[in-house]
Amino acid sequence: MSDAIAIRKEEHVTICLNKDVNFREKTAGFEKIQLAHSALPEVNFKAIDTTVLFLGKTLSFPLMISGMTGGFQGARQFNRELAEICQNRRIALGLGSIRQAIKNPDFLDSYQIMAQVAPDIPIIGNIGAAQVISEKQRHEILNLVKKIKMDALAVHLNPLQEILQPEGDHNFEGVLRGIESLISMMPIPIMVKETGAGISEKVARRLHEVGIHIIDVSGAGGTSWAAVEYYRSNEPEIAANFWDWGIPTVDCLIELQSLDDVQKIASGGVRSGMDIAKACVLKATLAGAAQPFLRELMLKGPEFLDSLIVRWQKEFQIVMFLTGCKKVADLPGVSFQIKK
Ligand SMILES: Cc1cc2nc3c(=O)[nH]c(=O)nc-3n(C[C@H](O)[C@H](O)[C@H](O)COP(=O)(O)O)c2cc1C
Repeated sequence: MSDAIAIRKEEHVTICLNKDVNFREKTAGFEKIQLAHSALPEVNFKAIDTTVLFLGKTLSFPLMISGMTGGFQGARQFNRELAEICQNRRIALGLGSIRQAIKNPDFLDSYQIMAQVAPDIPIIGNIGAAQVISEKQRHEILNLVKKIKMDALAVHLNPLQEILQPEGDHNFEGVLRGIESLISMMPIPIMVKETGAGISEKVARRLHEVGIHIIDVSGAGGTSWAAVEYYRSNEPEIAANFWDWGIPTVDCLIELQSLDDVQKIASGGVRSGMDIAKACVLKATLAGAAQPFLRELMLKGPEFLDSLIVRWQKEFQIVMFLTGCKKVADLPGVSFQIKK
């Protein structure tokens, strides 16, 4: 069972590296957000403070590498390299689903390595929605949380992906109650994320009602999980019809703006430092990305991933300069227009 999951995880990585799995018609929507340019910023570029506090730790700028891998051969090395770069650049790091480690402790160290290598940054664990439904599995998750050092645990909601997977979990009844129970059991904060189809205001409010205070919208516009499953499916016509399913990331952020008591993470199609800045203007605490970082690290090497992060940070700082922001908390005050 756990080996089947490991094979599937590895297939996902291989497909994301070798096939075009991006949305076709839909974008995340960042190009529609036009920030008000200030010709008189009254800011010294060098003195701009791009740092933010997240889960009690200071990030050099508001970025996280979204949860991807763990639990297959090769993941240990990949995760070590990711963790070294995140620690060095002081950005947050998400783990891939820890599900495999429940069934097979051999995979445990591919997750444990991250906290060992990166003690100063927030590490966010990850588990699927379907795994939180049963009490037995919630206890298994708690045991793992004690073994893998993490600052928060993200429950991923991925009904699109699961329904298109022949071997997927097709029962999502009881997930909200499961999340509520998990919150009361866990010694760390529980957050919720999608995996590229987005979280609406209605869903965010239901999550908030049961005690969720951090939501990663992971909207449409970047990696399409219908596309990933298309390449594995024995019913590719169905997967193809759902290729562009989901709520674009920017639409999610706009919908969730009024939830003041919820920290928003913007992911799904975030592809530049400018996108991160726009997400912050739309009241996100930070932004995350997965596929671009996976490709940079695995197809080119660690120094390329490092350079990409440095470039995004510079772009982020330039946007702050051009909008007259001295600190990240100034960004939500920047005026913007939404282009049609
Ligand atoms: C290879 C790969 C594996 C992923 N595995 C997970 C996972 O285990 N858990 C999860 O919550 N999201 C997973 N994701 C989804 C990402 O965290 C993210 O939500 C999604 O890819 C959208 O971001 P992007 O457009 O920057 O890729 C994975 C993404 C990729 C590319």
